[in-house]
Amino acid sequence: VTDKIQAPRGTFDVLGDDALARDRLVETARGILEPAGYARIETPTFESTQLFARGVGESTDVVQKEMYTFEAGEDESLTLRPEGTAPVCRAYIEHGMHKLPQPVKLWYLSSFFRRERPQKGRFRQFWQLGVEAIGSEDPAVDAETILLLSDILDAIGARGLRLRLSSLGTAESRAAYRAELVAYLRAYEDRLSREVRERIDLNPLRAFDSDHPGTREVMAGAPVLLDFLSDDDHEHFETVKALLDTAGVVYEVDPTLVRGLDYYTRTVFEYTSDALGAQSGVGGGGRYDGLLEEIGGAPAPGMGWAAGVERMLLSAPAQPVAPAPLDLYVAYAKPEYREAAFKLAADARRAGHAARLELGGRSLKGQLKQADRSGARYVAILGDEGTSLKDMESGEQKTVEPDTVMHHIRGVAL
Ligand code: HAM
Repeated sequence: VTDKIQAPRGTFDVLGDDALARDRLVETARGILEPAGYARIETPTFESTQLFARGVGESTDVVQKEMYTFEAGEDESLTLRPEGTAPVCRAYIEHGMHKLPQPVKLWYLSSFFRRERPQKGRFRQFWQLGVEAIGSEDPAVDAETILLLSDILDAIGARGLRLRLSSLGTAESRAAYRAELVAYLRAYEDRLSREVRERIDLNPLRAFDSDHPGTREVMAGAPVLLDFLSDDDHEHFETVKALLDTAGVVYEVDPTLVRGLDYYTRTVFEYTSDALGAQSGVGGGGRYDGLLEEIGGAPAPGMGWAAGVERMLLSAPAQPVAPAPLDLYVAYAKPEYREAAFKLAADARRAGHAARLELGGRSLKGQLKQADRSGARYVAILGDEGTSLKDMESGEQKTVEPDTVMHHIRGVAL
């Protein structure tokens, strides 16, 4: 026997009610994002590896160990996208979107790939809903994008939510802070976990993420970046907070908030849900005012977020899924009526009805049972006695002229 072929580890199929729940989530999001002026964007599933190495950052876990990278010819290295911000910025540059009215506001729903250890809510292929607003540093952009995610999470009924907010300042204030933090970590080096110790110079901020007890103790007294912000950055952050207050968005300022990607400047935020377990991050994002330049474009500021579709669904109670309404089920008594039945179902669909044709080779009795199970409003039965139409609501059945079926069911057109 050959081994059964299964979906690769960390991937999943989307079936049945799950597919409907996803559709509904996307429609809810679309209904919030598009009226606010966000237009849909799609980018390729794979990109040049350089885009992520430079955009997301060489020192991040994503680039160091989680990318699916493959060689494509002589010196071309490609990578399945681990995230969407760098690709959207690449597209902004490539299509000269700086010539459009700024900011350019985009949203996406795409699958992403990270070679992580699979667990509940963590997959190797997962979906993100995201927005990017590129070309304005107005703090209202920050507040607006955060508010949109807040409204989407509200609309889907996500539970146990917590919004943490911070500001990373500009590259300069971060450099000053970084030097201070590295000095602090060095002073307490012997109390830190080995992993944190080895990364003091590479990524000292990650020390805030550690769950190693000694490291946590040390970090409780560590200098925080918020105290190092320039006046401009400080004012920017204060305005973002004031706007969120105005909109009634509840948040906690958390100076230790660390995001796993390197491109952030100024505002960063993250939504978690305690309905999720260990992988509690529902969605997050922030400002990336240096990213476009980093990947070879003219300097332009940007702000955005992405939320995991699977995690959004896990955080919300399952909604009852209503079966799709069915106007007409076309049944037939003998194979010789298949053609007429096929035509009737086709005509009904073209006339705007939800219509299904018997395709399973069932007996007439089986077909009627199937029609009932499908919740059909009418069943047309083609047989030796002509065409009869059964109203499944009243139970009434009458013989009709075949070409008047549409006339009879017209009242139920969607
Ligand atoms: P991220 O925090 O890496 O940010 O991912 C955003 C969301 O994607 C997470 O909060 C989580 O819900 C979901 N997610 C991430 N990894 C996985 C996984 N392995 N399995 C399931 N869900 C996952 C970004 O990707 C940034 N591009 C967000 C952004 C947009 N920042 C600015 N603009």
